[in-house]
Amino acid sequence: MADLFARHERERYAMHQRHLNGQMVKVLQAIGYDVGFCRGQGQYLYDREGARYLDLLSGFGVFAIGRNHPTLRDALKSVLDSDLPNLVQMDVSTLAGILAERLLARVPYADKVFFANSGAESVEAAIKFARAATGRPGIVYCDHAFHGLSYGALSLNGDDIFRGGFEPLLPECVRVPFNDLAALEKALHSKKIAAFIVEPIQGKGVILPADDYLREAAELCRRHGTLFVADEIQTGLGRTGRFLAVEHWNVEPDMVLLAKSLSGGHVPVGAVLAKKHIFEKVFSRMDRAVVHGSTFGKNDLAMAAGIATLDVLASESLIENAARMGERLLRGFAEMNDRYELMHEVRGKGLMIGIEFGQPQSFKLKSSWNIIEAANKGLFCQLITIPLLKEHKILCQVAGHASHTVKLLPPLVISEADCDWILSAFDSVVAESHRVPGAIWSLGKTLAGHAMRGGR
Ligand SMILES: Cc1ncc(COP(=O)(O)O)c(C=O)c1O
Repeated sequence: MADLFARHERERYAMHQRHLNGQMVKVLQAIGYDVGFCRGQGQYLYDREGARYLDLLSGFGVFAIGRNHPTLRDALKSVLDSDLPNLVQMDVSTLAGILAERLLARVPYADKVFFANSGAESVEAAIKFARAATGRPGIVYCDHAFHGLSYGALSLNGDDIFRGGFEPLLPECVRVPFNDLAALEKALHSKKIAAFIVEPIQGKGVILPADDYLREAAELCRRHGTLFVADEIQTGLGRTGRFLAVEHWNVEPDMVLLAKSLSGGHVPVGAVLAKKHIFEKVFSRMDRAVVHGSTFGKNDLAMAAGIATLDVLASESLIENAARMGERLLRGFAEMNDRYELMHEVRGKGLMIGIEFGQPQSFKLKSSWNIIEAANKGLFCQLITIPLLKEHKILCQVAGHASHTVKLLPPLVISEADCDWILSAFDSVVAESHRVPGAIWSLGKTLAGHAMRGGR
């Protein structure tokens, strides 16, 4: 495979243009992200010339333990070398039993685990389980929520760009503003709501809950007979400096959804951790033993990846590292926020950080900002992320469509030296963005021209 990769890697963009999603190639080329990465190790990616990049996307959060971790690689190789009785189907998986036991040890108020193959599949399972457990049809979700792109999960998507063109979606889904307890209570009042599914920290925009929001929301759900479901697919497994993000607010959900980093970045996996009474309603009789599932669920490679990931998180104290490095970064960005008028807010927990930019006060900057933003809302952030990649070898992106927030989601293994790299790179690029005229605003004009032509 390494050989095949080496022989064809220069054709990757042409192959994707021809055979896959060509629009993605156009996006990469337009913003100069067509670097052609050739190697990944830990928190770093390397291009053809061997230049090292710091990866603050971590494959949208899957590489919490870093890319190609040796423990994970050994675990996967040992499965392949062991002739294990994988996916017998008319048997049960030993490795799934071990991984379930270890996950439940970290989340003691849950009793059962259902394994899926992705985040969206975990959300689909939670929707079905909630309906089966309560006998109710409705699901409440939040504005700006992201729970995946399959039909059930898409029906809980709080961003219209993803929904457009795919309707009709699942009926009986009710959208409420995030951080709005009164709206939630109103929605729950119908007594038709099976579950409130919420990200403890919203990934799109990196929006934090008010201090009492999740606890009060869980209590409202309990009072109205609605299940409280925490989608920890992005925030879970140490990302925010705790095993689960809900631990920051002492909340115990009825279901917790995991995926992304449980895979170690290599074998897709998802998990629904649930209270026993929910499972008992779904898998209620022998003839319902297979009423929900999927052929590849609980496969040995995925289970081994999960077991190895939990081992690495503990043996390398990565959750504590996420908390420490996150504090260091947030401190550094807060100090920068005081100095730059284009920077409006810095927020986050652990290694899930958003840096929000916004309209400046001074006349010269404001008119440049307005031109760029008139061409395409959110375009300004590309004037930050492109030089970060080109000049500072930092890979990061915005926190959503039309967003003014640059998001950092690095592997949890980053070091103090990496934090210094991030802070000095941002400082330099943001300082440059305050110079008008300057290289950054020239780049802005080029991108704005592209956007005005329709980005086709
Ligand atoms: C909070 C959350 N839920 C669900 C998903 C969907 O996961 P997947 O892409 O594995 O289907 C994502 C993916 O970004 C996510 O961030």
